[in-house]
Amino acid sequence: MKSQEQLKREVAQAAVAYIRPFFGADAVIGVGTGSTADLFIDELAKHKAEFAGAVASSERSAARLREHGVRVLDLDETDRPLPVYVDGADEINPLLQMVKGGGGAHTREKIVAAASERFVCIVDETKCVDLLGRFAIPLEVIPMAVPIVMRKVAALGAIATLRAGFTTDNGNPILDVAGMQLADAREMETTMNAIAGVVTCGLFALEPATVVMVARQEGVDIRER
Ligand code: A5P
Repeated sequence: MKSQEQLKREVAQAAVAYIRPFFGADAVIGVGTGSTADLFIDELAKHKAEFAGAVASSERSAARLREHGVRVLDLDETDRPLPVYVDGADEINPLLQMVKGGGGAHTREKIVAAASERFVCIVDETKCVDLLGRFAIPLEVIPMAVPIVMRKVAALGAIATLRAGFTTDNGNPILDVAGMQLADAREMETTMNAIAGVVTCGLFALEPATVVMVARQEGVDIRER
């Protein structure tokens, strides 16, 4: 039986094969954050001569790309949409809606994904769920708004917990929200986004992935929306 680490490595390799048609002398690749994204970076870097560089969704991923000698660009250095963004997820449902932000990088992830023509989500099979929400939904919050956001979340019947000792690359805290009703994830994302002081919600339902690649014991499944 393959370990979760092996599955992550297999889907990272498959993702590089999948995105190779988008490589080219001017191509800038969007790169996500997390343990699966780390393995993707390691595989992507083997082809660094075939594309121009990468935009990273976190300082952590930018550092790993640089260690491999991949050129890292800021988003404002690119004058057109990135052809593809590749990232993991904490959960993904059959509609390719996701929960992200277990690593606290979901704000920049949402920005780089929005700047890209396609979102290729790479996961192992443990991340596939029918209904999102077993994994707490991260909210990046402006520091002064933490108490009010906690109260607003409680009024929605959920419980927000401050992620201890953590600040995002943007200098903000994270609230992890458990117990949300997520039958309509789009509606919940809209509701969370509307709370004053919330920078970004870790639900990616309004703009789901374009493609999901799932590493299973039998091989990698690819499903396009
Ligand atoms: C980072 O903030 C997250 O959105 C990650 O992309 C997500 O948590 C998946 O990470 P793993 O690949 O480490 O499970």
